[in-house]
Amino acid sequence: MTVTPPIAMLAELTHRCPLSCPYCSNPVELTRRDAELDTAQWADVFRQAADLGVLQLHLSGGEPVTRRDLVDLVIAAREAGLYTNLITSGIGLTEKRLKELDEAGLDHIQLSLQGTDADMADRIGGYRGGFARKMDVARWIGEIGFPLTLNAVLHRQNLHQLPRAIEMAVEMGARRIEVATVQFHGWALMNRDALMPTREQAREADAIVAEARARLKGVLVIDYVRADYHNDYPKRCMGGWGSTGINVAPDGLVLPCHAAQTIPGLVFDRTQDRPLREIWYEGSAFNAYRGTDWMPEPCASCERKTIDFGGCRCQAMALVGNASATDPTCIKSPHHAALQARADAFAAGPTEFTARAAAG
Ligand code: SF4
Ligand code: FES
Repeated sequence: MTVTPPIAMLAELTHRCPLSCPYCSNPVELTRRDAELDTAQWADVFRQAADLGVLQLHLSGGEPVTRRDLVDLVIAAREAGLYTNLITSGIGLTEKRLKELDEAGLDHIQLSLQGTDADMADRIGGYRGGFARKMDVARWIGEIGFPLTLNAVLHRQNLHQLPRAIEMAVEMGARRIEVATVQFHGWALMNRDALMPTREQAREADAIVAEARARLKGVLVIDYVRADYHNDYPKRCMGGWGSTGINVAPDGLVLPCHAAQTIPGLVFDRTQDRPLREIWYEGSAFNAYRGTDWMPEPCASCERKTIDFGGCRCQAMALVGNASATDPTCIKSPHHAALQARADAFAAGPTEFTARAAAG
């Protein structure tokens, strides 16, 4: 098969974060601060990414704002010719720092929303006063004129706030909202009882998004990650393994997706040891599930195999213990019916959750 260059890189600058969201998708074992790549190493990664063909750089975490050298990193990324997007909760951003980021050339900000009021947002994020600070940050972002995407992670405890989240995106002047129903990777997996939406909530969210998309056409773009446990077909995870995206963890480990380390037997390279180009084209982890040749039945003979590429490898691993299996959120998976029954059971579970533990 012909392998084309990646379009986007997710640079996980750090795993440190002031919030402790129960749906955190970062691994249970976080990278410590003293193992993070330094400024010069990240700058080198950005140059290599641009040479490889990457166009968009997503600066993420943890909370990327906790990196004191964030402005320098944005400068380095812009010098490499990359379009830069900062994915942040807003906590730790001041008006002064935002202006510095603007001067450094930051192109876009994606602001996360834990809830649409202080009670919900501060409880879910585990940070008292966080919502009020986020609203200040949203105002400064608007005043400076950054293009903004709002990212609302929704689950059983806050899905009723979806209409208000969409309204807030319009009020903030966001061009886009990402309505992301919680995905169960990393830390989130241990909170499935508390976070799993009910089947009714999942259907209602579909209807709310469809109505808002029609009503707000030309005003707000709505990206939507559905509650896949309650649906018939899986999501096209990472756009297809090793096809469009490349992730770099805080310590320089290069991953095909953010949860790839949960798949036993995959061997990952580090940017410090091997050129990024070689890792992308020849790295064994990137080639493990690239394209369609690796697929067993029912995916191998399925007419949707180049639509969803068999769904999510990490989800197949987590749910049925086999990363090559058809994602069990697919109706053609032999595990689908059992999964839907489990989803209903999770959704009837208790609402207490385990807050994200912090990185060292
Ligand atoms: Fe997608 Fe595989 Fe299901 Fe077909 S069988 S829809 S390729 S996950
Ligand atoms: Fe790894 Fe979906 S998160 S393939």
